[in-house]
Amino acid sequence: MSARTPSSPGHALPCWKRARQWRAALTLCALHAVLLGALPGPAHAEPSPALQAFGGPSGLQQLSSEFVDRLKADARLAPFFKDSNPRNLKKQLADQFCVVLEGPCVYDGETMKNSHADLKIGRKDFNALVEVLQQAMDARGVPFAAQNQLLARLAPMHRDVITVH
Ligand code: HEM
Repeated sequence: MSARTPSSPGHALPCWKRARQWRAALTLCALHAVLLGALPGPAHAEPSPALQAFGGPSGLQQLSSEFVDRLKADARLAPFFKDSNPRNLKKQLADQFCVVLEGPCVYDGETMKNSHADLKIGRKDFNALVEVLQQAMDARGVPFAAQNQLLARLAPMHRDVITVH
């Protein structure tokens, strides 16, 4: 039987070595935490904050449905959409908005240039559509900041959509 002192058998390493081991372990833990935080999660992880404000992909489906119904009911825009396929348009818009908001979606529709090439769209038509989109977002209760985020990301598309100057 022997008395245990800090430097005897119970602690195989001298204290300065133990301290080094602890430091190494702590550093490793800290590194781990940083890496886990920094690495992107799986594709179907939490929607981005921007997308969350729209209620995720299903919120965007409801918004695009509301939007297309309003486009078809708007006297200025209805003529453009008289031959459209609302079901397809709603799906394509929801997917496109989702991609624009960095969501986990795929847009497999036409390019903006191709799909609007023959429609003879002018600046005032474009502005009217933006106004209707704002009305649809208001109706769906999308927060103002999130509305602006989506509009700001769609705005540059005017270059491909407007063909009448
Ligand atoms: C930033 C503005 C706009 C965006 C993001 C947008 C987006 C889209 C998308 C995603 C499609 C579906 C393409 C496909 O079927 O593959 C589409 C089609 C269409 N867009 Fe736009 N568009 C915009 C502006 C406009 C404007 C200003 C008009 C007319 C005033 C317009 C009229 C149409 C029409 C008539 C179609 C075809 C619908 C159909 O054939 O069912 N778009 N647009």
